[in-house]
Amino acid sequence: MNSSEQRPIRIGLIGAGQRGQQHLEAYQQIPGAEIVAVADINEALAQHVAAQFKIPNVYTDYDHLLQRDDLEAVDICLHNNLHRPAAVAAMEAGKHVYCEKPMAGSYADARIMYDTAQALGRKLYIQLFTLFKPETRAAKLLIDDGYLGEPYHARSTGFRRRGRPYVDGYGTPTFVQKRHAAGGALYDMGVYHIARMLYLLGNPGVRRISGKTYQKTPMDPARETSSGYDVEELGLGLVHFTNDVTLDIIESWAIHLDGFEGSSIVGTLGGVRLQPFGYYHNLGDLEINSTMDLEQISYRWKNVHQGGDVYDSAGHHWVAALQGRVELLPGGTSRWQPNHLTGKSPSQRKLSYSGCLMLTLRSAGR
Ligand SMILES: NC(=O)c1ccc[n+]([C@@H]2O[C@H](COP(=O)([O-])OP(=O)(O)OC[C@H]3O[C@@H](n4cnc5c(N)ncnc54)[C@H](O)[C@@H]3O)[C@@H](O)[C@H]2O)c1
Repeated sequence: MNSSEQRPIRIGLIGAGQRGQQHLEAYQQIPGAEIVAVADINEALAQHVAAQFKIPNVYTDYDHLLQRDDLEAVDICLHNNLHRPAAVAAMEAGKHVYCEKPMAGSYADARIMYDTAQALGRKLYIQLFTLFKPETRAAKLLIDDGYLGEPYHARSTGFRRRGRPYVDGYGTPTFVQKRHAAGGALYDMGVYHIARMLYLLGNPGVRRISGKTYQKTPMDPARETSSGYDVEELGLGLVHFTNDVTLDIIESWAIHLDGFEGSSIVGTLGGVRLQPFGYYHNLGDLEINSTMDLEQISYRWKNVHQGGDVYDSAGHHWVAALQGRVELLPGGTSRWQPNHLTGKSPSQRKLSYSGCLMLTLRSAGR
């Protein structure tokens, strides 16, 4: 990719906690990303982070950051229930928005974000790194090229043996409090896995959903008390799509088992499992179980198809989209192709939306 096409994108970061700092580290590897300002209600933290990453402007009120007219985009790394107010304020202030997953704490909030982006013509993108993993790309190619035949069932899984945030040692208490996070395992990790399966299935409409959540595994008493824990640690679901495809879901932060099989999709002619990656089909009397070199797909994409860095990560993809180098997944072309291969310009599709889970859940509730 010609570096002259990687024009500087001036970004303001809102929320300088764990994730905000990880984003700042990631931006250092993204050509053109220029972090101009940071906002956090914790002033000492904001100052510390600004000094560490050489960010010249610091705010404790994100509205003041949004008043800057030299920012093209903001990156929101606040707790889930703050995504909607911050994202809407940013879009109303003329900024494009990159927001941490989950898109919001509720369907209603996500819908407002989506509608605001559409009404104002802003780009709104949700960080879902699973869309950019080589196994997702490989599965997408197999599906698009017909190697699964007609997909009819998918499975979304996520496993932690005992990995609840904070109470099992990682993250802050806000992760496990409904008033901040809205939900537990499903909201935290589930959205990564479910969104990927929805993307691979072509984001079909939903007819109905049933599900159940649990919080059963004992936790350290001191951490339990100090955490204010009131979210689920295990989420289960079954989704019926309007095209007769089904999706079952199991997402665990804590469970007395040694693992789940990886997410999968089965079709009339073949099946694909994402982790460990496998493609399964029959050749006459032969049942073929294949694996493949997933690194090759990234290599060939970059070097043979000259896609460059546009699918390297959700952050690379977001910045490349602002630079006009790619259409945002999954709203753009169904294939992994940069604009020069599809012949479409990003302006032909101003808005992309990757928080498909929320809209899907809404349509089920009709
Ligand atoms: N921590 C992770 O590993 C991780 C991974 C993926 C996604 N996420 C997502 O990132 C988001 C943030 O999580 P986190 O782990 O960074 O939380 P965190 O508690 O570490 O950071 C949140 C920051 O937001 C600040 N804040 C709170 N209210 C504010 C306001 N009104 N204005 C400005 N700043 C405010 C807090 O002071 C804090 O510094 C969540 O949506 C989470 O789901 C986190």
